[in-house]
Amino acid sequence: MNHSNNPSGTPELPRLVTEVPGPGSKAIFRQDQSLLAAGNSAGSLWSELAVVEGRGAMIRDADGNWLLDACAGTVVMNLGHGHPAVATALGEQARLLTHFYDFATEVRVRFVELLRSTLPERLDAFHLANSGSEAVEAALRTVRSATGRHEVIAFHNGYHGRTLGALSLTSGAGREGLGPFLPGVVHAVAPDPMETPHQSEARRVEACARHLDRVAGQVLAGPPAAVIIEPMQGAGGMIPVPAAFLESVRAFCDRTGALLMFDEILTGGGRTGRLWAYEHSGVVPDLLLLGKGIGGGFPLGIVAGPRHVMDAGPGAQPTHNSSTFGGNPLACASGFAALTALLEEGLVDNASRVGQHLINALGKRLAQRRNVADVRGLGLAIGVEMVRDRATRTPVSGDFIREVLRGLLRRGVVISSTGHVMRITPPLCLTIPQADYISHAVGSTLAELERD
Ligand SMILES: Cc1ncc(COP(=O)(O)O)c(C=O)c1O
Repeated sequence: MNHSNNPSGTPELPRLVTEVPGPGSKAIFRQDQSLLAAGNSAGSLWSELAVVEGRGAMIRDADGNWLLDACAGTVVMNLGHGHPAVATALGEQARLLTHFYDFATEVRVRFVELLRSTLPERLDAFHLANSGSEAVEAALRTVRSATGRHEVIAFHNGYHGRTLGALSLTSGAGREGLGPFLPGVVHAVAPDPMETPHQSEARRVEACARHLDRVAGQVLAGPPAAVIIEPMQGAGGMIPVPAAFLESVRAFCDRTGALLMFDEILTGGGRTGRLWAYEHSGVVPDLLLLGKGIGGGFPLGIVAGPRHVMDAGPGAQPTHNSSTFGGNPLACASGFAALTALLEEGLVDNASRVGQHLINALGKRLAQRRNVADVRGLGLAIGVEMVRDRATRTPVSGDFIREVLRGLLRRGVVISSTGHVMRITPPLCLTIPQADYISHAVGSTLAELERD
């Protein structure tokens, strides 16, 4: 593997020179908070950390502490921080051309051609946006325009973003007080080992497939325009969706004429140990939604779909799908450099190998921890489900989660959480010693809190 983004001088493991957060971080955090409106991520608020620099899987805070990044920002820095090819591409492109609306550019052709070469042949037309949520909005416009229908089925525990269309598809926390949402969106039940821990996977899949049919038959006004699902639910608790369920959703779409949308905004780009998470099941969607890591850290969202779908209906008229910044030269230059590096440096295989090592190490180390019900994941998309006790599987409190994340920070590891699930999603260049450090830090933090 090429470690060109981890130059000498950057430690491989945490190196702490103050307590974390230290006085430098705290001062910047206080100033920042006095200026920003409320609502930043819980992790950023609980950690009080100010970040200055990133190299590979390491970040340096405002006090000079080097910390191990076990979240890749928020599942974005798949290549690792400070990748020289991305930095060079962005610099060169900025000097050449930053913006000229959505006019054709060679750099966009180069990037989209490379992306297309990694996808099934039928996904041959692309819409470029500026974020995951924007890609979801574009996909919603596309499925309405192409089918002439408006109803969409999404799933419990699904997360698709915070713009109002995307939030309408999202289920769970973050919706309170913000409705009414998009009419015609219905949520079906997805297989959830946290909700039905005593059911076998096969029974769970069967029950959810039946529920999907019931929702379509009893709640919708007609056949839906689309079904949207994450192949691995990220914000919903790091839950890989069983291949058998994805197959039954595919069959449902084929029966009803609905378009199948896979939201791979979190899972795409090698995160799960395959370039695209759909490869684990072999189920190919009609629309593939990408974001987060795909831009190499630069904002970028993408919808890929068959040309006859992407170009269909009134939504495909000139200007109806345009955006000021979507597909801009900087995003394409960064995306091209990032995807090239991802493929050339063996990072997807590394995610698979080091990810499996980390899942095994965590599974072994946490087997006796009273507050851990499950360690699950694919590649370097890993969840640790934290509970009050294993028998009842009742979630731990927000205070407990905050103490876990702070305990990890004191050990030099930055980790995030989603609900009561610790989310371990480091850059894909993670090394085995770094994986072992994370596993040890998680184990000792949870052991300490158990004693307390
Ligand atoms: C699966 C999924 N879809 C959509 C989004 C929204 O992306 P963004 O935050 O870039 O708008 C996210 C972000 O976390 C996500 O995980």
